[in-house]
Amino acid sequence: MKLQGKVALVTGGGGGIGRATALAYQREGAKVAVADLNGEAAQAVAAEIEAAGGEAIAIAVDVTQSAQVEAMVKQVVTRFGRLDIAFNNAGIDIEHLPLHKATEEEFDKLVAVNIKGVWLCMKHEITQMLEQGSGGAIVNTSSVGGVIGAARQPVYGATKHAVLGLTRAAGVEYARKGIRVNAVCPGIIDTEMTERAIAREPKRAPYIEQAHPIGRLGQAEEIARAAVFLSSEDASFVVGHPLLVDGGMTA
Ligand code: NAI
Repeated sequence: MKLQGKVALVTGGGGGIGRATALAYQREGAKVAVADLNGEAAQAVAAEIEAAGGEAIAIAVDVTQSAQVEAMVKQVVTRFGRLDIAFNNAGIDIEHLPLHKATEEEFDKLVAVNIKGVWLCMKHEITQMLEQGSGGAIVNTSSVGGVIGAARQPVYGATKHAVLGLTRAAGVEYARKGIRVNAVCPGIIDTEMTERAIAREPKRAPYIEQAHPIGRLGQAEEIARAAVFLSSEDASFVVGHPLLVDGGMTA
């Protein structure tokens, strides 16, 4: 087990990539805090973890709200005594419009969840990790859209580029404190987010699969394995890195 005795926090843990990662962390021996805007979904994943013999708590949180994020970290520490690993994964995807047609409201929402949310989480998690003084590992969810230009997702893509900026800066800033900050950049993954995108534009479905040289969508578990790697001692010399897990999409 790669994460035996560690305490891990997963945001956006109620579904998709977050759920798969919360379950993978448990299988590797971590105690897991499952945080999500959808408190019931978080509760369901925490129950799955407990049913598998692990220890978990569910936390309802909106990652755009500083007080809630601070309270989330405190709740983890109250329950489990510390925080070693954080997967800052909560994110939204709402545009799918050409840049000149997207609205200011969409821009503000994307920036709030995808950038401010990740920054707020890191701010409070790192504060806790520094206080503990025993290092830690943070993994942020970026995207292939954080590495290449994505037509009809200009603001989403910009927010995911920003996640890599935050990741690199924090990686460099806290490396000497033993806190490793990295990012995972998924290709298109078979989750509800992708189902919603296909439902909005069914004609894009074949393109979405073919976008990956490997010839299929990714599975949430394939991202979870990358998050486990970056969170574990296997990645002890990996800092500020954007790990592409994209079936060759950006190759
Ligand atoms: P999903 O929509 O299935 O799950 C996202 C979870 O985040 C949901 O449970 C949702 O309730 C939660 N969430 C949304 N806003 C929140 C907020 N303000 N506070 C707390 N929780 C919030 O999405 P999926 O596919 O699992 O995506 C997870 C991450 O992976 C996102 O950051 C997304 O941008 C990224 N990603 C997804 C890809 C895909 O193809 N599905 C590709 C590349 C990146």
